[in-house]
Amino acid sequence: FVELSLRPQTLKQYIGQDKVKEQLEIFIEAAKIREESLDHVLLFGPPGLGKTTMAFVIANELGVGLKQTSGPAIEKPGDLVALLNELEPGDVLFIDEIHRMPMNVEEILYSAMEDFYIDIMLGSGDGSRSVHLELPPFTLIGATTRAGMLSNPLRARFGISAHMEYYEVSDLKEIVMRTSDIFDMEITDDGALEIALRSRGTPRIANRLLKRVRDYAQIKGEGIIEKEITDRALTMLDVDRAGLDYVDQKILRTMIEMYGGGPVGLGTLAVNIAEERDTVEDMYEPYLIQQGFLIRTRQGRKATKLAYEHLGIPYFEND
Ligand code: ADE
Repeated sequence: FVELSLRPQTLKQYIGQDKVKEQLEIFIEAAKIREESLDHVLLFGPPGLGKTTMAFVIANELGVGLKQTSGPAIEKPGDLVALLNELEPGDVLFIDEIHRMPMNVEEILYSAMEDFYIDIMLGSGDGSRSVHLELPPFTLIGATTRAGMLSNPLRARFGISAHMEYYEVSDLKEIVMRTSDIFDMEITDDGALEIALRSRGTPRIANRLLKRVRDYAQIKGEGIIEKEITDRALTMLDVDRAGLDYVDQKILRTMIEMYGGGPVGLGTLAVNIAEERDTVEDMYEPYLIQQGFLIRTRQGRKATKLAYEHLGIPYFEND
């Protein structure tokens, strides 16, 4: 129950992402007045920014039901047909990691999204026949970490496209305050600010760090989450002053110490830090780029002067 109420239920309760909220508020209101299903929505952005939460908020604001699945979970066309078959008029179908859907599943979605029907082939060879199935109007909400990985035909069928951004520190602080309130934690203003500053612009990380700092404060302090105890807890957790975690730091160190600052290919980098290539590209790189520690060049990834300075390694201009 507590975990459930942690998620905001309405656009008004949803902190941050003002641009996305402003647009959605209008489109949702207009669809409701016309008594139509909302156009399909594509949410993209790095993990942990609240894409799933936003999908639930949209369904709640529309006053409709939501069915949830993910790209990798839909293995064959029949899995998707079963889900589509259960939809009530106006419902939301939420597909997380939509870029990981198999191609033969994706193809079924085209007519479902565009004209609310599907044609499926049953059987094979001479005995096969096509079955036509009408669907109620529905709203597909797709979430993806990388818009670039979506095929053009699929992307073109989303009428609404929302880019989720890393959160402002002030918004993260508000989220931390809201969570502490829900869990009845004692927290000071600078405690919340310190967590916000070190959460890589990501609510999921802010809420996770908050819980760990609370543990630390309970055992090593007076149970109050203030700046100094927060700093000690986060230092223990290898979250540095810029909010970079152990893996972020390892990425930058590897580039600088083993490859002279780069350029390094993504694959090489991933192997060296023993992470999946996709994980590096989706989770770590975007924040390092946004913060100016890393740049992408045609030849590969390069560490910036700021990365050297942050790690306390002397930087020499070359080329
Ligand atoms: N909890 C996590 N993310 C949130 C957000 N964007 N707004 C309110 N509460 C949240």
